[in-house]
Amino acid sequence: MSNVVDLTKKGPVISKYIYGHFSEHLGKCIYEGYWVGEESDIEHVNGIRQDVVRALKEIDIPVLRWPGGCFADEYHWKDGVGPRENRQAIVNTHWGGVTETNHFGTHEFFELVRQLGTEAYINGNVGSGSVSEMQEWVEYMTMSGESPMANWRRENGQDEPWKVKFFGVSNESWGCGGNMRPEYYSDLYNRYQTYVRQYSDDRLYKIACGPNIDDYNWMEILMRYSTRFMDGISLHHYALTGPWEDKGPATNFPVEHWDTLITSAYKMDEFITNHSAIMDKYDPDRRVGLIVDEWGSWLAVEPDTNPGFLYQQNTIRDAMVAAITLNIFQKHAGRVHMANIAQTVNVLQAMILTESQEMIKTPSFYVFYLYKHHQDAVEIATHVDRQDPLTYTLSTKDDLLTLSLCNYSMDEAQELTLDIENLADIISSEYIVGQHNDDHNTFEQPDNISLLDFDQYSLGNGQLTVTAPPMSVITIRATVK
Ligand code: AHR
Repeated sequence: MSNVVDLTKKGPVISKYIYGHFSEHLGKCIYEGYWVGEESDIEHVNGIRQDVVRALKEIDIPVLRWPGGCFADEYHWKDGVGPRENRQAIVNTHWGGVTETNHFGTHEFFELVRQLGTEAYINGNVGSGSVSEMQEWVEYMTMSGESPMANWRRENGQDEPWKVKFFGVSNESWGCGGNMRPEYYSDLYNRYQTYVRQYSDDRLYKIACGPNIDDYNWMEILMRYSTRFMDGISLHHYALTGPWEDKGPATNFPVEHWDTLITSAYKMDEFITNHSAIMDKYDPDRRVGLIVDEWGSWLAVEPDTNPGFLYQQNTIRDAMVAAITLNIFQKHAGRVHMANIAQTVNVLQAMILTESQEMIKTPSFYVFYLYKHHQDAVEIATHVDRQDPLTYTLSTKDDLLTLSLCNYSMDEAQELTLDIENLADIISSEYIVGQHNDDHNTFEQPDNISLLDFDQYSLGNGQLTVTAPPMSVITIRATVK
């Protein structure tokens, strides 16, 4: 493939929040994944494990969504503040029916946010929570002056309010968040969001619960009745190998599952295109963001693990899903203001897997590492086409060009030539590559997939030619004259 790139033709800014993450009280994401407690032998600061924090800082997580997910609409935040020994335990009914100690609550979440150097996306409870409960949580977190909730926060050890950048008014209200009709939820959204008050100068970005995959009627109704009350509306789409009820294995999968998973990931392009068209009718200036706050591969759990914990391995195939999907978001950067891959540690398409003291980085981690330079960069070109195994994004920031490519072909290299005037020097060039379609990292072999230097490119006469090996994700960074 050969393309002429005009560097003067600039697209939208790729919001850094497209590189967001989602962490729920589910399986071993929060407990064991981040939180080991202050008595743990595992290296921690204030109960949060440091190997995981150090690794995640390498990928510059811009925003973290918490506490759910389905868990959010059963979460009563007051259970999770105050002295830990007094916090009442509850049952995590959605995820394995296990005991939730509430030892990781609002204060611990903001400590995690501080350690990661990220921003907070809090998801409120509409399904089983009251308007005043939601209002008080926002007051507790963000009020600086005197108020009952701000004073309680101070009694619990936090003087200064925290910064809540994003606030979600429920999760999956069409399903686990209350099985509502869009008309009913739209009214509830309008009501609940009224009391999500501004207690500080930091403007809260309010997110309405949007549709599942291709539920265009949900989007239509929400946009019709709630546009003026929202800053963003969510969309969820997980990549599957086949029917929802029959999830394919994460490793050692039938060869046809390579394509079915990738086809499912590509559906994101269609869903965003069609939902954006509906949004354009009600919001032609694109003020409202499409917030894809749950995405990624959803595969069968690993053998002998709790099915409610959604613990799955992560292979070079998942790296393809991540890279393709990020290219799709970048193609739609004018409308997609945030996205949050599910779910950071030990759950679904995780960046990190832990096993007591041990921690490994997954192939998906390396995609986020390679792509991080697109955060807040200006999009120059994206190429996403299901028929073409090669997808890429070219962006510019601080006078540097970043080109990221993914070749999902299992057996054929793909060549890309870009005609770019003024290209000067390549300053870095790295990639990950699979030899077999289920290559992955294990606690015994943590570096099966890791970053390598990439040299299969040539530069000269205003042309950059890259030969992307099968099953590879590459990032090349260059200066311009
Ligand atoms: O990410 C796992 C679950 O998937 C979330 O809790 C829910 O919102 C979605 O159905």
